Amino acid sequence: MDYKALLKKDMKEKQELVNIILDRYLPRKDEYPKELHKTMRYSVFAGGKRLRPYLTTLAWQLYQNNPEPITPVAAAIEMIHTYTLIHDDLPDIDNDEYRRGKKSCHAMYGEGAALLAADALLVGAFELVAISEFDDKLRVQFIRELASECGIKGLIAGQMMDIESEGKAIDKKMLDFIHENKTGRLINLCLRFGALAGGANAKELTALAEYGKRIGLAFQITDDLLDIEGSSEDLGKSIGKDAAQHKATFPAIYGIEASREMATELIEKAKSALKPFGSKALLLEALADFILSRKS
Ligand code: IPE
Ligand code: IPE
Ligand code: MG
Ligand code: MG
Ligand code: MG
Repeated sequence: MDYKALLKKDMKEKQELVNIILDRYLPRKDEYPKELHKTMRYSVFAGGKRLRPYLTTLAWQLYQNNPEPITPVAAAIEMIHTYTLIHDDLPDIDNDEYRRGKKSCHAMYGEGAALLAADALLVGAFELVAISEFDDKLRVQFIRELASECGIKGLIAGQMMDIESEGKAIDKKMLDFIHENKTGRLINLCLRFGALAGGANAKELTALAEYGKRIGLAFQITDDLLDIEGSSEDLGKSIGKDAAQHKATFPAIYGIEASREMATELIEKAKSALKPFGSKALLLEALADFILSRKS
């Protein structure tokens, strides 16, 4: 079977399921206060890949057939991801005017509305998880892990060190810290939530964490490479910004060739971590290849 084609089709189907939940959860554009809801919807529906929700669903589907029960949790993760992008683009963070093929949120609606829309997406994500169909114990666990992985010892710490490191000579350890925290943790959490809700055992969770850690790092390395070699049209965001802002990236520290090799090796290792799942994990395998070869 052509798993690349199957992946593309399946990803699109799951994007639609997530979009339905997001559309249902977010207030209408004409609801008071309109400016807030318009701004939230603008960024959420600007056209992201929905990679994180898809990972959540794929992990769940290692155990369960029907994707619907996990979709609100997957959508919540996408809301958190979208909030991080809105903040990431702000003038005092990466100062980016272009995102998901459109003007970035603050460039369109102003910094005040962008900040508040992102805040609302962040807290809304917790609400969406809290009202999902899983039992109390699991929902509390999800909420606690979301807070810790995205918080002061996770994603936000990574983003802080990313901006702190601009223009500085940083070592490889700090580079790993930044990438693991700003990007890796949320990607890992997607797999973990899907698998936990699906009914994974401890050994399977460990195997998925190995996979997640490797694709998470490979994902940010390819993001760094695409900022140099990609096209702004395909990516829907500006390119060349990392070098201009003297960002701590893999190519800046290791060079383009070595970075590509590292990403390739990570993807191979990620795929080998899936061995315990046998043929059930073929789409997760195909997704790892997509992360390496993606143009957007
Ligand atoms: C961009 O993430 C931010 C990074 C962590 C590198 P994506 O490339 O998944 O962005 P969207 O969601 O498709 O816009
Ligand atoms: C962003 O990393 C990571 C988060 C938003 C948490 P980047 O700053 O490299 O992402 P892009 O390139 O702007 O999408
Ligand atoms: Mg950034
Ligand atoms: Mg950025
Ligand atoms: Mg980038």
